[in-house]
Amino acid sequence: MPADLVPATEEAIERAARLIRGGELVAFPTETVYGLGADATSEVAVARIFAAKRRPRFNPLIVHVADLAEAEALARFDERAREAARHYWPGPLSLVLPRRPESGLALLASAGLDTVALRVPAHDVAQRLLRAAGRPIAAPSANRSGRVSPTTAAHVAAELGDRVRLILDAGPCSVGVESTVIDLTGRAPVLLRPGGVTLEELSVIFGPIETAAAGEDAPRAPGRLPSHYAPERPLRLDAVDPRPGEAFLAFGPEAPPGFAEVLFLSRSGDLAEAAANLFAMLRQLDRPQFTAIAVMRIPESGLGRAINDRLRRAAAPR
Ligand code: TXA
Ligand code: MG
Repeated sequence: MPADLVPATEEAIERAARLIRGGELVAFPTETVYGLGADATSEVAVARIFAAKRRPRFNPLIVHVADLAEAEALARFDERAREAARHYWPGPLSLVLPRRPESGLALLASAGLDTVALRVPAHDVAQRLLRAAGRPIAAPSANRSGRVSPTTAAHVAAELGDRVRLILDAGPCSVGVESTVIDLTGRAPVLLRPGGVTLEELSVIFGPIETAAAGEDAPRAPGRLPSHYAPERPLRLDAVDPRPGEAFLAFGPEAPPGFAEVLFLSRSGDLAEAAANLFAMLRQLDRPQFTAIAVMRIPESGLGRAINDRLRRAAAPR
């Protein structure tokens, strides 16, 4: 049965909340990407997420809550974690923290770890859904495992339309790349995944931050598996000149002549605009008539780190 794709009205959000409470899957917008949500306190509901995404392994999921008070009921916060939450919640930051034994969270949401990744999303629809459901919602990006994350409801329908009951549509996501994941369980904070909150911003609170190398310790952060976020077409990074039949993703005002098609991540060279356009444009250029998608070099600073992280994974050998 194909999913209902409906505008995120009050009534639709109420229906979504009832489905979540009944153990069903609902796709909903956040400011980063669309999420595939399930009741984080139900093992069966969380297991449905893995089945729908065809995730090969049980990788831990981000648990979404409405505010810091709810988060503190699920995990142990130290002063450093509270400070991060006060600065960046609601927003695109996920904190990996020691999970409280009495949290009531499904073990599968943490994939058997004694930690949990928590996030308070800023999107109004996500907030209303969390409050209406009255429980934490586990939600990975609403795409099939390994593929490009969805930043519109139509992307979700294309990826998972036959595997989710309801898709709440609230237009394109404003941030466009996933949340930053930071591990605060050790003495020094470790960046597990660059994302919507930049390393520069986090350094203001934490000082210098260790970054976990891609591929290393992969099960701890599957978003860091080498091949991920991948379109069907091969991706060629740091492209300067065209090769036959290639499409081109440009950053800045100009693109070299000779590409079969060109899209501009941001003509003004704005990294936030580029992040918001990234996944939708990768999808748009992922068409059989192109031999590959060539991408211009993106600066490795601010949101450029998250963009380059996703591009490198999308280009990694499959
Ligand atoms: O922006 C986002 O974060 C989106 C929206 C829907 O909120 N969600 C998302 O979830 O990207 P997902 O499942 O695609 O990515 C979760 C990331 C993975 O890299 C995972 O390894 C890491 O968070 N993660 C989750 N729980 C963890 C834990 N307990 N320890 C270490 N890493 C964890
Ligand atoms: Mg994902």
